[in-house]
Amino acid sequence: MKREERLRAMAVPLLAWYDENKRDLPWRGDHPEPYQVWVSEIMLQQTRVAAVMPYYQAWMEELPTVEALAAADEERLMKLWQGLGYYSRARNLRKAARMIVEVYGGRFPESYKDLLSLSGVGDYTAGAIASIAFGQAVPAVDGNVLRVASRVADIREDIMDGKVRAMFRSLMEGAMPTDRPGAFNQALMDLGATVCLPNGAPECGRCPLAALCEARRLGIQDQLPLRRKKAARRVEELTVYLLLRDGAAALRQRGDRGLLAGLWEFPHVPGALEEADAAGPVEAWGLTPLEWKKKLQAKHIFTHVEWRMTGYLLTVRGDQPDFAWVDGAGLETLAVPSAFGKFLEEARRVLREEGER
Ligand code: ADE
Repeated sequence: MKREERLRAMAVPLLAWYDENKRDLPWRGDHPEPYQVWVSEIMLQQTRVAAVMPYYQAWMEELPTVEALAAADEERLMKLWQGLGYYSRARNLRKAARMIVEVYGGRFPESYKDLLSLSGVGDYTAGAIASIAFGQAVPAVDGNVLRVASRVADIREDIMDGKVRAMFRSLMEGAMPTDRPGAFNQALMDLGATVCLPNGAPECGRCPLAALCEARRLGIQDQLPLRRKKAARRVEELTVYLLLRDGAAALRQRGDRGLLAGLWEFPHVPGALEEADAAGPVEAWGLTPLEWKKKLQAKHIFTHVEWRMTGYLLTVRGDQPDFAWVDGAGLETLAVPSAFGKFLEEARRVLREEGER
């Protein structure tokens, strides 16, 4: 059987399986609103379903419509996103919401091409919205779909290559059923997330596509999809300061470009400074160290970089115009990225203890 035929043969068993096994998710009604599909798909990029659920619920309570999102203020938006990571996703959501209000009079655009023109909406998301919310036979090719399709049809080409991705999209276009395209796409996502698992752990015994699957017949499931080696992640050492003054901790706002743009962070400098050298930057900020209380270590992994952080907790005197001195309550109103989670926890703890004294 040819690739195309094999992929086309997926729809019937896959949809039957989906009807019995689909996950009950809050954005999956009988007639999902495009706004709900869009927000959930953006949240689900890079983030697991279980982690997304509480964020999605809170978001929909606070920003139930495109208009509400278009009017949301930056701090609120960042706070709702805090912990999900990749904050440009939230900013793009608002930017696109404003475009929908201004250009489309608040009506969600329906065509794949118009959807693609929205900030933060690429092939995958445009396909998901078009198929799930508007019933169009457009594929939505994410990592799950690449895995299922490459295994079923034994496609041994590098999925990191843009041309190969385009080929998968076109193959999937040919495999879409016209009657339930949204269910078909979501069935592939669910199958990839719960049965056709990565890392050598597919559960072929309960897969509705097992009889059709070429990789299974050849016993090479765990070798597909094929992926060229990624460039190694760059490691950055940082020294992070948890500076305390009169029941408040110093935070500063990141610049409006690049990684974690616009979020709040604990002041830090490049390099892993030993205790003997760690006072230098504090003094350079115009502050006087009073009491060194604790040394902390933390690390955070982003897509392209890993931060290894050495932290110092100390009390200081003086002021630095770029810093905001934030008390325990204030800390809860600012969006501080998870990369600083360990320092945030420590700040919460010491400010609470100081408050109790
Ligand atoms: N992952 C990304 N989008 C999804 C969806 N709509 N359903 C289930 N898993 C997903």
